[in-house]
Amino acid sequence: MKGDWKTRGFSTRAIHAGQPPDPTTGSVTVPIYATSTYVHDELGKHKGYEYARVQNPTRSALETNVAALEGGVSGHAFASGMSAIAALMTMVRAGEHVVFSRNVYGGTYRFMTQVLDRYDVRSSWVDSTDLANVRAAMRSETRLVYVETPTNPMMEITDIAGAAELAHAHGAQLAVDNTFMSPYFQRPLELGADVVVHSTTKFLNGHSDSIGGVLVARDVADGEWFAFVQKSEGAILSPFDSFLVLRGLKTLGVRMERHEATARTIAELLDAHPKVTRVLWPGLPSHPGHELQRRQASGFGALLTFDVGSYAAAKRFLDRVEVMSLAESLGGVETLTSHPASMTHASVPADKRAELGITDGLVRISVGIEDEADLVADVTQALDAA
Ligand SMILES: Cc1ncc(COP(=O)(O)O)c(C=O)c1O
Repeated sequence: MKGDWKTRGFSTRAIHAGQPPDPTTGSVTVPIYATSTYVHDELGKHKGYEYARVQNPTRSALETNVAALEGGVSGHAFASGMSAIAALMTMVRAGEHVVFSRNVYGGTYRFMTQVLDRYDVRSSWVDSTDLANVRAAMRSETRLVYVETPTNPMMEITDIAGAAELAHAHGAQLAVDNTFMSPYFQRPLELGADVVVHSTTKFLNGHSDSIGGVLVARDVADGEWFAFVQKSEGAILSPFDSFLVLRGLKTLGVRMERHEATARTIAELLDAHPKVTRVLWPGLPSHPGHELQRRQASGFGALLTFDVGSYAAAKRFLDRVEVMSLAESLGGVETLTSHPASMTHASVPADKRAELGITDGLVRISVGIEDEADLVADVTQALDAA
């Protein structure tokens, strides 16, 4: 049936779900509805759109699309990944508690420990690669278990189905930050999770030109709450950014395939290189989470981390790359490198970094979709200097 994309393949859904031709003109792409309000037909009668904080057709198209890709009942788009996470956390009341994977995105940690803590929402941070640690952290007031898998930069893998079962057995829900994998490789709702979070800034948009976030719910009631929070807090994604993410999503499948193929080549190159002491990419059979990742996802992604032994060697590598650029963020078409200890994780105290394995010699690459030969040559020449 036209318009029912559920039975279609991933890329067909990415291109069509939520995006019928524009009813007025037949425009093949969803227009950017730059409007703050909508004229009512008469008192008590409107077209379903009242005020653009609450509804916007461009945003609705994106929300429907992401929900179709993640297999949820609804999607809700926010002004950033962090505002999506903040909206998610409104599910938790004062006095309640959340159990987190220990090395989730640093901004999530900052928000919980420096903002929500003031509102009496408590959090525990555990190595969720072993669910026994999650079980031990559960309290009677635990409302949510929140995992990121793989984590950044250590690429730790958490068993999503096991975490969902555990959360549910304790009367809690499971939220998964699926930013690194994207729904192309991993669909947590199908594994029992209740909510999926994305920073659309990364792979979903994919072109490093927009900041955004989205929540996808499995239950209608959770989706209704997120819509209420959008309306009440107002941190919505703009029509223009919604358009950009929708456009990015159309090529998500082909981008993820290419990202991953090149990531594999680079991971194998690094693994065999004498100057590299350790490579963390879940696609390598030596990775501790490899088997689990194979079971719960259809791919291994484009993020990889490796150790060149010292800060000085990492600096030489990072200063020497030519095609790749040194920058925070990930998931774009261009390859980005970063130094977790002094960049993304600089605010984590040194002893905590050591506990997490974030050494000074660690380098992270978000592998882009440039020509593989150019990236291989770049890594090789930069490693010669390291
Ligand atoms: C895994 C993950 N989740 C959430 C965020 C926050 O997203 P944003 O920067 O769009 O607020 C980031 C940002 O780097 C991230 O890497």
